Amino acid sequence: MQQTFDTEAVRAEFPALSRLHGGKPVAYFDGPGGSQVARSSIDAMTRYMQRGGANLHGVFPTSTETEEILADTRNTCAAFLGAEPDEVAFGANMTTLTFAIARALSRTWEEGSEVVVTELDHRANVDPWISTAREKGAKVRWIEVDPETLTLNLKDLDQKINANTRLVAIGLASNAVGTVNDVAAIAERAHAVGAVVAVDAVHAAPHLSIDRDAIGADVITCSAYKFFGPHVGVTAIRRELFESMEVHRLDPAPAHIPDKLETGTQNHEGIAGVKGALDFVASLGNGDSLRERLLDAMRTVEEHETRLADGFRVALREIPGVTLYAAPGGARKTPTVAFRLGGRAPLEVCQHAADHGFFIAAGDFYASTLSRRLGLAGSGGFVRAGLAPYNTEEEVEGLVRVLWGLVGGGP
Ligand SMILES: Cc1ncc(COP(=O)(O)O)c(C=O)c1O
Repeated sequence: MQQTFDTEAVRAEFPALSRLHGGKPVAYFDGPGGSQVARSSIDAMTRYMQRGGANLHGVFPTSTETEEILADTRNTCAAFLGAEPDEVAFGANMTTLTFAIARALSRTWEEGSEVVVTELDHRANVDPWISTAREKGAKVRWIEVDPETLTLNLKDLDQKINANTRLVAIGLASNAVGTVNDVAAIAERAHAVGAVVAVDAVHAAPHLSIDRDAIGADVITCSAYKFFGPHVGVTAIRRELFESMEVHRLDPAPAHIPDKLETGTQNHEGIAGVKGALDFVASLGNGDSLRERLLDAMRTVEEHETRLADGFRVALREIPGVTLYAAPGGARKTPTVAFRLGGRAPLEVCQHAADHGFFIAAGDFYASTLSRRLGLAGSGGFVRAGLAPYNTEEEVEGLVRVLWGLVGGGP
C-alpha cells in the first residue's frame, strides 16, 4: 500500500518547529545548510549518554552496548545508501572524510595522472581532490557547468575523462541550485577508463533515494545533519577499493575496513543519533525490509517536496525583479530554490524574511565556482530557500508574501 505524506505527523516529530521568533512561529527554509533534528534522533543521543557511554572493546555492558549501537547504525546507513555495512565508515563530517580519502587514494597518483572535478560542486568535493592532485603533480580537469541550464556540460566527457583519469569527483545534487546530476552516465565513462568515482551525496541524501550501485559510486559520502540527525559524516566505499586503500592511521589502530578510516574515538552519541534520524526516515515508508522502507520513504519525500517546490518556483517568478537560478522544467531538481531579488543584497532579503520568522540563507554556500561562473560571487551570491519534509504549503505561501513585501505589492 502506498503511504501518503502526512505533513502534520512529520512536524510532530521535530521539537524545534515549536520555536517562536518575535512571537511568530519559525518557518525553517535553511535545510540545505542543516535540517532540524528528528525527535527519534535526539532521543537516541540522550538515551546513549544517560544510560552510560563507554569506549569500545570493553567486557562491560556500556562498552558492548556502544559496539552494538555502532553496528546498528552501520547497518542502517548501508541500507540507506545501498551498500554493505562493513563498507560504511563514520567521521566528523563529509569534508574531513573526503580529505582523508583523497590523501589515501592519491598515494598512487603520479605525474601524468588526472583527476576530474566539476564547476557545479560544493568545494568539499573539489578541493580535497585538487590539493592532493597538486601534491602528486597530477592534472586537474573541470567538467563545466552551462550557466543557462545550470546542468553539467557532458559534450566533451570522453576527452575530460580519458585513459589518464584516476578519479572523478561529482555531486549527486547541487546544494546551491538543486540540479540533480546524471552521475550514472559519468560513472559509466569513468569506469570504462578504470577511474574511481567519488560522489558527494550530502545535498541529495535528504531529498532522493540513493542506490550506490545504480549510480556507480565507488565512494559516496553524506552528512547526517542534513538528514534530520546530528553532525556526523558517513561514507560508503566499495569493498575492493576500501581494502586496497592505504589510509593514514595510527599504528595500533585497526587496519581492517571500515575501522581503518575512523581515526580516533568516534562520536558515539552522534552515531546513535544517525540511526535515530534514519529510523524517522524509515517510518515514512512501507516495505518488508529496512532498505525497502527507506527507498519508499524517500520516494514519498521527493514527491511531497517536488510538489511544494514547483509551486514555490512558479510563485517566485511572479514577483517583479526575481531572477531564479534553476535547471529547466523537466530537469530533476531537489527542492532547493536559489534566486536574487532585484538589486537587493541577498543578505538584506534574508534579514527581512528572518524578521518575519522565515529562516532562509544567503551566500555561495561553498559552491563558489558556480557562483563565480554566474557572476554572483562579488555581490553576495544567492538567496537560498530549501524545503524539507516538515515544510508546509502555508509556509511557502507565507514566504512568498514576505518576499512580495520587499517589492511593495502582493499576489
Ligand atoms: C553538497 C555539499 N557537499 C559537501 C558539504 C560539506 O559537508 P560537511 O559540512 O559535512 O563537511 C556540504 C555542506 O553544506 C554540501 O552541501
